[in-house]
Order: sequence, then C-alpha cells, then structure tokens
Amino acid sequence: MKTRITELLGIEYPIFQAAMSWASSNSALVSAVSNAGGMGILAGGPMRAADFARALSEIREKTAKPYGVNIPLNNPRARELLDIAHEARIPVMVASQGGPREHLARFRAIGTKWLHVVASVEHARKAQAAGVDALVVDGMEAGGHPPPSEVTTLVLVRRVIKAVELPVVASGGIADGAGVAAMLALGADAVQLGTRFIATPEASVHENYKRAVLAAEVDGTAFVGRGAHPIRQLANGFSRKYQSAERAGEPAEALEKLFASSSVKQAALEGDVEWGKVEAGQSAGLVDDMVPAGELLRRLVAETEAARKRLASL
Ligand SMILES: Cc1cc2nc3c(=O)[nH]c(=O)nc-3n(C[C@H](O)[C@H](O)[C@H](O)COP(=O)(O)O)c2cc1C
Repeated sequence: MKTRITELLGIEYPIFQAAMSWASSNSALVSAVSNAGGMGILAGGPMRAADFARALSEIREKTAKPYGVNIPLNNPRARELLDIAHEARIPVMVASQGGPREHLARFRAIGTKWLHVVASVEHARKAQAAGVDALVVDGMEAGGHPPPSEVTTLVLVRRVIKAVELPVVASGGIADGAGVAAMLALGADAVQLGTRFIATPEASVHENYKRAVLAAEVDGTAFVGRGAHPIRQLANGFSRKYQSAERAGEPAEALEKLFASSSVKQAALEGDVEWGKVEAGQSAGLVDDMVPAGELLRRLVAETEAARKRLASL
C-alpha cells in the first residue's frame, strides 16, 4: 500500500489515528498505532505544557517509528506547544484551525512534515498556497469539528483532490477497511480514523465515553453549534438542550453561553456523557467492539486488503 503519503512520511500503511482531544492526548495510543505501521497522532490541544513535553518523550521511548502531533493553531497556548514540539523535533505536524504560514519555515528547517486539516475547498487552496506538505480533509460525518458547510467526506475529498496537487488524507466516517478502501478508490493518499480509535483500551477517556460510542447507532450523533463553531457529538441531554434553544430562536449570545457551559473534558475525564460534549462521528454506529489499537490497525489493513480483493473479483 504505497502512496504519496506513505512515501512522504515513511510509514508502512496509509492509515492515521486521528488527533482527538483527551482520547489521544497520551503516548500509549499514539505509540501503539505508530509501532503497528500506521500514523499515531498526539492531540496537544487540551494538554498542559509539562504533560505535552512528557508525552512526547514517552512516545520517543516507545517507538522509533514516525508519529504526529496536532496543535490547533487558534489555541491560546499554541505558541508554547509549538515551541515544545519544535524542541522535540517532531517528525510530523498535523495542524488544525488557523493559518500555518508563519510556522512552516522553522519546522521545515528541522525536517518536520507539515500536514494541515481543512474542511473546505477554499481552505485547501489556502493551505496549499501557504506551502504545507499535505492536507487532511474532514467531511461532515466526522466527530469533533466537521465542516460548517456540512459537505460529506465522500464529496469533499473528491472535490479537494481536483482542486489541489497536494496529497490528501481523507477523514470522517471511515471506521473500517471498506471505508479505507473506498477513500483510496476516490484518490485519497491515506485515511484518518478518529471515532473508531475511541473504543481502544489505550484511548484516554472515561469508560462511560467508550461505552457510549459502542452503544451509539449511525443516527445517534448531533451537529451542535450551526453557524458558529459546529461540533459533532453523540446526541445527549446537552445537545438536545442546545438544539431546542436554537429552534426557539435564542439570540446568538445566549447560544454561545450555552455552548460554553458544557465541555469535552466533562465527558472525557469525568464521564458525564449526558451533559458533556461527547465528541464522536457518525461512524460510532459502525463501532461495536473494544480492540487494542495495534490490533485494530492490523485488522484495518486486513479488511482493506479483503475489500480490494472483493472489488477486483467483481
Ligand atoms: C473525541 C474527538 C476529539 C477530537 N479532537 C480533535 C482535536 O483536538 N484536534 C483536531 O484537529 N481534530 C480533532 N478531532 C477530529 C479528528 O481529528 C478527526 O478529524 C475525526 O475524528 C475523523 O472523523 P471520524 O471520527 O468519523 O473518524 C476530534 C474528534 C473526536 C471524535
């Protein structure tokens, strides 16, 4: 499975474990995926500087293979985290939410490959013009921050592939080997899976969070915060309260306040899956077992091969 992404990053399989705030803010998940030949990604966004630095040195102890780091560039602590990542000479950056231009030169100077997460054709073109090495394209099925436009992965990935020359990593709703094969068939150079990796022992979220993902159906998510900063999460008390405030025509300020009254941390660390933001994608409905992350990666590879064979035999 050689693609432009496996060549660029020096990984065996074109499969990424997505950055997920809290769930992949630890070294165990990242190193397990990288050791299995995929691309493990540390979610730096919610981490304190000292914890982030420690996780990076643990990853280096646990794997000699390439790994990635995600820093949302609009995070108030982004600069501090970027400095730590730079000092650790990280092999791969998967940056999101913000312009990459001002950061590229110093990371390029130490050999870091810079991938940028985008959710529209316009942002894909801008990131290419800024000089990034590759793009991660998130469609609306994705957990976390899907495109405000609500364009699906199936459509957006193909459109972005037409619009840019850069390698593209498809993200959102993938979950299994059939999903991986489908995205490679569309022309993606790799895939990124988030929600599927929540149901692993290594994901650092509360057991209630994992159980909620395992129990969810494909229609069990909600799109919260339309028009502002939408997130996709499992439907629960919080999402229903927010959506009924939206339907009631509450002013933007009140909606903003309500949005800020709940957090991912509440669900991820405290296990409050009723009132916290249980970020997860539609593919939660395709996840029905807990699997160690390395084994999951190997299973995804085998399933992808099976899907390719099935297609070839038609
Ligand atoms: C629990 C959760 C937390 C996330 N946190 C982040 C994050 O911190 N930074 C980021 O760029 N994307 C984040 N995302 C988005 C993922 O990186 C990825 O794009 C998405 O999970 C892919 O869709 P899938 O969940 O359908 O596989 C998060 C997604 C989830 C499910």
